[in-house]
Amino acid sequence: MRDLPKKGECGAGGMGDSGAPPTRGPGRAVIFIGPPGAGKGTQAKQVARLLGIPHLSTGDMFRELVSQGTPLGKQAKPIMDRGDLVPDGLVLQMLEQRITRSDCVSGFVLDGFPRTLPQAERLTDVLHARGMNGPRVVHFVVDRTRLLQRLTGRRMCKTGGEIYNIYDRPPKVAGRCDNHGGELIARPDDQEEIIGPRLSAYEHQTQPLVSFYRGQGLLQDVDASGTVEAVTQRVLGILRGMQ
Ligand code: AP5
Repeated sequence: MRDLPKKGECGAGGMGDSGAPPTRGPGRAVIFIGPPGAGKGTQAKQVARLLGIPHLSTGDMFRELVSQGTPLGKQAKPIMDRGDLVPDGLVLQMLEQRITRSDCVSGFVLDGFPRTLPQAERLTDVLHARGMNGPRVVHFVVDRTRLLQRLTGRRMCKTGGEIYNIYDRPPKVAGRCDNHGGELIARPDDQEEIIGPRLSAYEHQTQPLVSFYRGQGLLQDVDASGTVEAVTQRVLGILRGMQ
């Protein structure tokens, strides 16, 4: 994992990749925990890029498998469409395969994983087996009104997966991705009737992980309201303090 960029190295317009390739031993996992729409994916992309480590989003992995029509994708699709969590066994199998790839040796940013206590406990064992220290966990805190606006306003590029928001982060041309010109679509699980079950799954199955990690001294809260750039700076500040 690269040294964290100094304050001010990442600006609003673009974050230069700086620093040499990773040279140290096993890095640490960074985990972003927070409710749907809290901004985990948006921040994970930026932070992973700045740290020079992979961004692993189990939601993105499942959406890819769904679009490819694989057996696992076919199993996950109806579950995701109703806003429930995919069973632990399926998630763990997929994630463990990904973590053992060579690009993860210097650390990685986990976005949307773990989401249940069994997932967190298994992750602890996997990290331990790979000689990695405990993860650095950042808990995204955002009020419910803002979450709902972020979810209902989210649009995603069908081609490249870039994320926009019609209220806060609109594309230059309505309905089209700034990078690829691809079509922007709403995620099927961002429909209002699915958002309720997703928030409820978070509250009952994922929220307990906040105490799990806080009790081990591995977690800090971040105020995830404010601009994307402001939140990135807060997250980087927290990670620096946890080194
Ligand atoms: P997943 O894709 O992980 O969805 P999620 O956790 O519900 O999170 P979201 O992607 O909705 O929100 P986010 O916090 O990443 O916000 P974002 O950055 O996009 O999972 C989908 C499904 O897959 C699950 O429901 C489950 O079925 C399954 N699944 C995945 N992992 C699983 C697991 N481990 N176990 C079991 N099942 C699993 O931002 C949202 C919007 O806000 C965007 O429009 C963005 O532009 C905007 N925004 C972000 N930050 C800001 C800001 N600071 N200011 C203004 N706007 C902002």
